[in-house]
Amino acid sequence: MAQLTILRYPDARLMKPSEPVEVFDENLARLVADMGETMYKAPGVGLAAPQVNVRRRIIVLDTSENKDQLMVLINPEIIETSEEKKLYEEGCLSLPHIYEKVERPARVKVKAQDIHGNWFEVEGDGLLAVCLQHEIDHLKGTVFVDYLSPMKRNRIKTKLLKEEREIKKAAAAGNHAAKKGKKVKK
Ligand code: NI
Repeated sequence: MAQLTILRYPDARLMKPSEPVEVFDENLARLVADMGETMYKAPGVGLAAPQVNVRRRIIVLDTSENKDQLMVLINPEIIETSEEKKLYEEGCLSLPHIYEKVERPARVKVKAQDIHGNWFEVEGDGLLAVCLQHEIDHLKGTVFVDYLSPMKRNRIKTKLLKEEREIKKAAAAGNHAAKKGKKVKK
């Protein structure tokens, strides 16, 4: 298994729709295992394939207390949503340290395929409902900050871009110092 690199918002690759999975083979099983490992290590409760630069309709999630119930949904579709809505504070592995309240249907029913291609249904409320909708949104190229006001979204974008520049600068400084055999100050 391998840990995959998670794309950071506002990377344009996060805003593109994903294609359905048609081949249920070893490569798919490996990708799903790697996505699970990446999600647990991050740590997060959900991860969609486009977040690791694979534009396929695949999501993994685990909203269990002990983090021992990995759910894998291939080609997931929401087939029922409740009238009742709920506000929930969401975060995303592609937007580190950003948490904002988003309103969504309180309960959803989803149909999806497993890694062998068998269809099944899952119904959830609470965190599971939020997570299912959030991850399925990723497959459409939608990120949770898309539900916020343009002003708020721009502020988040600016903050994340600034952070990214700082990370790159620190990495470059580290490489430079390493080449010269100097110690990097912390
Ligand atoms: Ni996300």
